[in-house]
Amino acid sequence: MSKRFFSFLGLLILLFSAVSAAAQSKSVDPEGHKWWQHAVFYEIYPRSFADSNNDGIGDLKGITEKMSYLHGLGVDAIWISPCFPSPQVDFGYDVSDYENIDPMYGTLADFDRMVEEGKKHAVRIILDFVVNHSSDQHAWFIDSKSSKTAPHRDWYIWRDGKGPGQPPNNWISTFGGSAWKLDPATNQYYYHYFYAQQPDLNWRNPTVEKAMLDTTRWWYKRGVSGFRLDAVDTLFEDPNLPDNPALPGVNKQGDPNTDEIHNKRLPEVHDVLKKLRTAADESDAVLIGETWTSNIDELKAYYGSHDNELQMPMDFMFTTVNKLSPPEFRKQIAALDGAGGWPVYVISNHDITRSYNRYGDGRNNDAIAKLMGAFYLTLRGTPIMYYGEELGMENNDPKRKEDVRDPIGRTGWPNEIGRDGERTPMQWSSDVNAGFSGKDPWLPVPASYKTNNVAVESKDPNSVLSMYRKVLALRHTNEALIEGSYMALNEDDANVMSYLRSYKGKAVLVALNMSASPQKVTFNLADRGFASANLTALVMTPGVSAKGMNVSLEPFGVLIAEVEK
Ligand code: NOJ
Ligand code: CA
Repeated sequence: MSKRFFSFLGLLILLFSAVSAAAQSKSVDPEGHKWWQHAVFYEIYPRSFADSNNDGIGDLKGITEKMSYLHGLGVDAIWISPCFPSPQVDFGYDVSDYENIDPMYGTLADFDRMVEEGKKHAVRIILDFVVNHSSDQHAWFIDSKSSKTAPHRDWYIWRDGKGPGQPPNNWISTFGGSAWKLDPATNQYYYHYFYAQQPDLNWRNPTVEKAMLDTTRWWYKRGVSGFRLDAVDTLFEDPNLPDNPALPGVNKQGDPNTDEIHNKRLPEVHDVLKKLRTAADESDAVLIGETWTSNIDELKAYYGSHDNELQMPMDFMFTTVNKLSPPEFRKQIAALDGAGGWPVYVISNHDITRSYNRYGDGRNNDAIAKLMGAFYLTLRGTPIMYYGEELGMENNDPKRKEDVRDPIGRTGWPNEIGRDGERTPMQWSSDVNAGFSGKDPWLPVPASYKTNNVAVESKDPNSVLSMYRKVLALRHTNEALIEGSYMALNEDDANVMSYLRSYKGKAVLVALNMSASPQKVTFNLADRGFASANLTALVMTPGVSAKGMNVSLEPFGVLIAEVEK
């Protein structure tokens, strides 16, 4: 064989090893953890975070200007809800071009500057990839609906009706009405699990799959560190379109309840997630999943059988506890912690009422907000914060139907009031419009912005913000909190949630009084390797005291302490 052949072979081997080395995600510690396992994530709803040009709507330049705030807070990665071109029917979740920025948020050059500024402050950028559907204004759909033989016809899901005026089956859109819309031009129906302006993409078409995978690679090259994948549960439908079984009652939009067995969580979803993961691994990127599961086995499936799908499926079952119940939380944490994957904890987002209102009792909400922060930021796993949670931002729900911006709030009023309340502008200061914008913002801020804002809370060592800053600083430096195992303590206690995070003979104990009365607790860590121990407070609220292993906590009091042998 010729010398030239051997040098060609050598080049191939070199290339192959370079590619596979790039494909291997790097570890950041001796435990083999990856960057996203050490990171704190923070969701930004871009319309509402920071408005650089005073038009009442947040933008990318605004985010760029706040990088130093984010870094100072202890945030390592921001997930930005969709900022791509969009008619904004679902405020960005209806994407009309996957590879651009909506002019209301800026330009691709602004995006690049944001990535650069993020790098300077060690803040990575995660984008929101709306995989299930596009906007009906996307060029793909405009072509798709133009004729039955259009090149993009099969990029979406088109079917004949069952008969005149009858959709193909009984599937219901989660945003109200039938999930099928008749298009008179071709007299066929298209499928939309969400709004009619959000037609579902046909992932059974390999060209669609390729276009979407290419999009992720395009953004990775632009400096993105991962994606939050929107609505993965609904990627596939049974192509035979059987009716879903009926369930009793109606939902908030007045539609009959059905068991969505034929259009949710189909096994094919996992094939796509594996391919998205392969592309992510090439760039050491992370995939976060919007995974609304009803039990731990469904959630487990999203990690993939060989850790080859989502690294970070969000555990929304945690958000459904909705009350300060140590027994309920223990159950949820034990299930997730034992599931084998890396836990991902979330307490708020742009689709659910803020944690401040869900857990607050109306009198001690700031104390409860501090307690909730001290709680989920000290669990084993990666937390995803929601902007303003660190301030104790509350929901500002519309009081009248005519004030509602979110379409589901208008069609479902008053049973469903929509999601405006949890999407109001970030509260930066006590200035007009909470310092968010010189112009009236797209949604009004609540009166509580005067007290719960960055400027005021930065000066108060006992504010919600100060608690978040302290806990976040600790979780970046304390090995037991970064690497340690989770062990529930005093499991019969109905009022105080306590646990130990321990690593290589060192431990941190967390005790959280989830009740409105003072509590005394005693810990015995003899069987956890600490025969005689003392507690040294790392973070605590003012009314806490610890003597030996005896702890007194004021109502909603917090103690995070080092266990000294
Ligand atoms: C989930 C998103 O979080 C929500 O805001 C959106 O309306 C739906 N997916 C549809 O994209
Ligand atoms: Ca703006």
